[in-house]
Amino acid sequence: MNESFLARLLDAASRPYRAGGHFGYHFSRGKLSSDCIFRELLRQGVFPKAARFLDLGCGQAVFASWLLAARGLYDQGDWPADWPEPPRVIELRGFELMAKDIGRGRAALADREPQVIIRQGDICKTDFGQADVVTILDVLHYIDHANQEDILRRVHAALTPGGMLVTRVGDADAGLYFHVCDWVDRAVTFVRGHRLPTLYYRRLDEWVALLVRLGFQVETMPMSEGKPFANVMLIARR
Ligand SMILES: C[S@@+](CC[C@H](N)C(=O)[O-])C[C@H]1O[C@@H](n2cnc3c(N)ncnc32)[C@H](O)[C@@H]1O
Repeated sequence: MNESFLARLLDAASRPYRAGGHFGYHFSRGKLSSDCIFRELLRQGVFPKAARFLDLGCGQAVFASWLLAARGLYDQGDWPADWPEPPRVIELRGFELMAKDIGRGRAALADREPQVIIRQGDICKTDFGQADVVTILDVLHYIDHANQEDILRRVHAALTPGGMLVTRVGDADAGLYFHVCDWVDRAVTFVRGHRLPTLYYRRLDEWVALLVRLGFQVETMPMSEGKPFANVMLIARR
């Protein structure tokens, strides 16, 4: 499946992290190459042709770098014939709690400001402004249930009509797969130097019911390819 193209896309998306040091560069390469969601978002043409993005819990902003790299290759005529046109990033604002991630993300994408703006902030408190696409990838389970609901309500209000939220969550009803996912999350968080977190999950049907109650139309698709995880991508349209 377009292996040489994917290698060029990975190189282009991870290159901006190179000057910032070994960890950020290899982290971006590892994440972007091993996690199917980045490829699938492009291959399935999930996003509109041009959009203002808001990425909540953006980490070191690898998603922003991936979108910019994709569009860059497309504009050079280097794009798989059977993939839809990648989105043009009119603007991408990212919010992240952790200063070190912010530092790596901002350093990598400094030359893209003001198109890309990465800021430190707690998404339980930050003002979301307006966006056509909101992404919350593997973040909501770090946030308690009341704040999850408040964030999703504010995301709905922040979206322009026809806008979409793309999020990935763990399905707490997925048995063993869910427990592997939960264990890996705790271990990764611990290794990254944080205390063992309390994680706040819901069953997939509960996530869908919550989003529908908040006014979204919801589509779900499994998004754990190649891993023993119970991850599901939700596309919620306003
Ligand atoms: C598993 S990482 C995913 C990072 C990024 N979304 C990605 O896909 O590469 C989860 C991120 O959510 C961030 N996060 C957790 N709670 C947050 C909050 N209340 N406000 C902002 N960021 C938060 C964490 O610091 C961490 O960087």
